[in-house]
Amino acid sequence: MPAYTSINSEILSKIKEAVGTDAVIQDPEKLIEFGKDAAEDAHIPDLVVEATSARQIQKLLRLANRHCFPVTPRGLGTGLAGGSVPLFGGVLLSLAKMNRILAIEQDNLIAVVEPGVVTLDLQNAVKEKGLFYPPDPASLDTCSIGGNAATNAGGPACVKYGTTRDYILGLEAVLPSGEIIKAGVRTRKGVVGYDLRHLLLGSEGTLGVLTKLILKLIPLPQAITTMVAFFPKLTSAMESVTAMLIRGHVPCAVEFLDDRCLEITKDMLPFKEAQSAKAMLIIETDGVQDVIERQMEAIGEICLECSATDVIMAPDSLKRARIWEIRRAVSLRIEERFPLFLHEDVVVPIGKIAELVGGLRGLEEMYGMNVYSYGHAGDGNIHVNITAEDPKNRDRIEEGIKDLLRKVLSIGGTISGEHGIGIAKKRFLSMELSAESIRIQKAIKDIFDPNQILNPGKIFE
Ligand code: LAC
Ligand code: ZN
Repeated sequence: MPAYTSINSEILSKIKEAVGTDAVIQDPEKLIEFGKDAAEDAHIPDLVVEATSARQIQKLLRLANRHCFPVTPRGLGTGLAGGSVPLFGGVLLSLAKMNRILAIEQDNLIAVVEPGVVTLDLQNAVKEKGLFYPPDPASLDTCSIGGNAATNAGGPACVKYGTTRDYILGLEAVLPSGEIIKAGVRTRKGVVGYDLRHLLLGSEGTLGVLTKLILKLIPLPQAITTMVAFFPKLTSAMESVTAMLIRGHVPCAVEFLDDRCLEITKDMLPFKEAQSAKAMLIIETDGVQDVIERQMEAIGEICLECSATDVIMAPDSLKRARIWEIRRAVSLRIEERFPLFLHEDVVVPIGKIAELVGGLRGLEEMYGMNVYSYGHAGDGNIHVNITAEDPKNRDRIEEGIKDLLRKVLSIGGTISGEHGIGIAKKRFLSMELSAESIRIQKAIKDIFDPNQILNPGKIFE
């Protein structure tokens, strides 16, 4: 990393001149809020620039190259890997105020948005026009579409609809040099040149600042139906997930909670069946009403074959809202309880889900940790939340995490399905990627950002 220049009064006045005094925050109390995302790492920036245009970002990045200070882009700070933490201080570039929905083109089934739009606001706005933007990270009511794009965020709907990347046709980005480029298309297809759009998406704000996104929309499904199933064993729940998928049912959500997650949420769950269950599945199907009802019946049968004790079809809308509220808040509930909380975000092939979860209790005994698992069962994306009462156990737990990741990789999985690498997981990167792959990726970073001014210290050690 270069020796960065600190933001002295000369640089500060140049920044103010470039972006406008109104866009700069220096109040120390406010700076603290911008030094953290939803993970544990924190670092307070020297100042915050709240951008309202690509042009301001362009000027800021040109100054950063000239004076060698770091700039860290940030959406709404809900990331789980420290990707927007300004590790080396400098300028925190907030995109929160670039939050306009510029167009919803009903005839073309696209939307054009700025990066600071809240994901749920976008979903609601397109819904009013009979359209659907599926990606639905757990934080969808507080996260930004730009942050989702930068991390290629997932969510429950991925099992049927794919991740954020699958809905971004094109984009505008300010590169670290200050150049503004367009990548991708406004059409359903496009194969002209290398796909810089997909290189920028998921690059965690290290290759460019996303300033505009052209989103693919699809018709809003006519109806949605929900089912909750309880199981006496987590592995049985997972066997039913694999069975429903390979028998041709593609729900739009297949989420699970293990017994520990049920334990801390069952007071809120509107089902007495949750009291004794060891696992719960939340399954939804969407589409044409009678088709999805039949599909759900078939899925219910599969759950019963896999020894579900209770299958509850079509809970009323209040219960459904409650189920999702609980599912989306489970991570926070775990975090509140433990002084040490590390969340892994592994994914394994569909046929290996039961094998993975079956081994988690063994890790607990071996490494003195408590594992709370929940997540996107239908994707094999298991949020393995590792907790301990005593933070001093950290070293032993670190060994446990490595053991878990080795297991995941040995069965064909990956160490992060949706939260990204950021700061939190960079020490594990070489477990999955070869030295040559890392070398090429760093070389790409150098082409985009030779002076390492944009979001330094992320992804790579
Ligand atoms: C979830 C987040 C943590 O699925 O990815 O709840
Ligand atoms: Zn998730």
